[in-house]
Amino acid sequence: MAKIKFSNLPFVPKAEQKAQFEARLAELKGVPGALMPALQSAQEIFGYLPIEVQKQVADALDVSLEEVFGVATFYSQFTLNPRGEFQVAVCLGTACYVKGAGDLVAAIRKNLNIEEGSDCTSDGKFSLVETRCIGCCGLAPVLTVNGNVYGKLSTADIDGILAQYK
Ligand code: FES
Repeated sequence: MAKIKFSNLPFVPKAEQKAQFEARLAELKGVPGALMPALQSAQEIFGYLPIEVQKQVADALDVSLEEVFGVATFYSQFTLNPRGEFQVAVCLGTACYVKGAGDLVAAIRKNLNIEEGSDCTSDGKFSLVETRCIGCCGLAPVLTVNGNVYGKLSTADIDGILAQYK
């Protein structure tokens, strides 16, 4: 299993998000099979599943944190880290990787000032993910920003691409 990375940004939910999620947990309390719907609601309300929310779910539904974590990490619909307003995804599939996708990641981190071990800018505007092949190998190396595809890239292209979203 790939190593799981956690965001080092603090989890600061809005009061209405907290209230909405507490109400949802109260509805689900004692309902069989409530874990999945609880995590789906959390993902919808907060945009990701920070450890604080996983603990809250474990307490409210009287299940172990291990079980919550197991489900949260098993299904790809759940994310453990916050997503930025703009999600930059760099393909690290073989074709992209051999054409320098790793250097693109480094250039993006530098441009956005995202430290190693973190996935999101401190203002929440950009997040960075590394993906598997997205099926555009002819354009390698490739990245997407909120689904817009940029191909045949070099590190010199990064500043110009990101500038469009700043
Ligand atoms: S390996 Fe990157 S698009 Fe296929």
